[in-house]
Amino acid sequence: MSIDSRGIHGIWLSRWTFIMAATGSAVGLGNLWKFPYVVGNNGGGAFVLIYFLCMLLVGVPVMMAEVVLGREGRNSPINSMSYVVKNSECCQAWQLIGWIGVLAGLLILSFYAVIAGWGLHYILEVFSGSTVGVDGESAALLFGDLTSDPAKLIVWQTIFLGMCLTVVSGGVKKGLGAAVEILMPLLFIMLIVMLIYAILEGNFIAACRFLFEFDIASLSWRAILEAMGLAFFTLSIGMGAIMAYGAYMPAGVSIGRTVLIISVFDSLVAIVAGLIIFSIVFSTSGIEPTAGPGLMFISLPVAFGSMPAGQVIGIIFFVLVVIAAWSSAISLLEPATAWLVEATGFTRFMASFLLIGFVWFLGLGSVFSFNLGRDFTLAGFTIFDGLDFMTSNILLPIGGLAISLFVGFVMNKDALLKQMVDLEGYLLTLKTPSSCKTLSLRVGWDWVLRYVAPTAIAAIFIMGIYDNMSY
Ligand code: PFF
Repeated sequence: MSIDSRGIHGIWLSRWTFIMAATGSAVGLGNLWKFPYVVGNNGGGAFVLIYFLCMLLVGVPVMMAEVVLGREGRNSPINSMSYVVKNSECCQAWQLIGWIGVLAGLLILSFYAVIAGWGLHYILEVFSGSTVGVDGESAALLFGDLTSDPAKLIVWQTIFLGMCLTVVSGGVKKGLGAAVEILMPLLFIMLIVMLIYAILEGNFIAACRFLFEFDIASLSWRAILEAMGLAFFTLSIGMGAIMAYGAYMPAGVSIGRTVLIISVFDSLVAIVAGLIIFSIVFSTSGIEPTAGPGLMFISLPVAFGSMPAGQVIGIIFFVLVVIAAWSSAISLLEPATAWLVEATGFTRFMASFLLIGFVWFLGLGSVFSFNLGRDFTLAGFTIFDGLDFMTSNILLPIGGLAISLFVGFVMNKDALLKQMVDLEGYLLTLKTPSSCKTLSLRVGWDWVLRYVAPTAIAAIFIMGIYDNMSY
């Protein structure tokens, strides 16, 4: 059986469709909502530099490893891992990588859809004119009106999940592939429009200074760990999403180069989003870059409310947020959908419909965390915070750690080399000239996967748990 026909879900039309799909997965609320406020809380430039180092040194190699596993397995992360593990004649427990990924994807989607729903609500809010001329206090009240009303949150969460169902049920080519081919160019055009607006109307110089001026004193060990966690989240790695997309990647396409392009796009979007948001924030008096998670939903409406053409720009901005969240959310649903189709023979529509129902139900926990169930906490966490913590700080690092150790030490070397032939002669690779079996990607990628990435990830994991325990 040829490698491409082993999977039942199909293959992306071209390398570019894969790049757009993976970039769509990577570019999301992590870049537009999380990156700016986390940078704001950590003092700017020095944090940004560390974030980029983490992307390059850990993020890119781990993402490559995920694509290798997906393309070798050609199925959902669960069945791809099962195939690769059998082929590597190793302990069956490595298959857990696939299960953790599918589970993490569904858990993340349950709270991600709630925040994306806020974005949908704000398109309407800005459109209706209720943000025109608002000050900080009334913007906070508007936000409070939304989050304290479970019915509103459920309606928006349902609409957003419905949008995800429409795409994922269409399959790899007609659903995911077609959607990203439309959504990603649209997203880039809107980003450019926003950037031009920020340069013309915002305080662009102050934003550049904030993002690029390097003040080593503002760096703490904890900030370094946070930068690493953010790099993982924004690249969508450690959870099977990229593995699932990698399973549909045409054979023979260079994994190293393709992943590099995706991470450059992802970093660019984070930086451009940061420039846009801080230009706007710094041009409006009384708004601080350290506003935290409310930066996008409270501070920006204040700024849009007082800037020239603020209403139109505000609408474009929140449409951009929803598109970015949408193209990420479909990648959170795809691993589980692919698995359910493989396991039961259900149609794609049936599989994704059932999973969306499950995610919708799980998401109610996050919805109620902001209102009726605000006081219901477990170990100090509301359901929303707990899910965010459990996925970002536990499942994601465990997944990333296991993936790097598996590909670095355990995976069948012939299979690995088959996927990485494109690296021959490539900067990161050194081939030992003896037999094929003993070929190893000795330096660079291999070394990072074996030692650098696991050590760094283990550090995040331990510090993440420790930080929250001592909180
Ligand atoms: N990378 C997405 C973002 O930055 O918003 C979030 C995400 C998507 C994380 C898909 C994980 C994932 F599997």
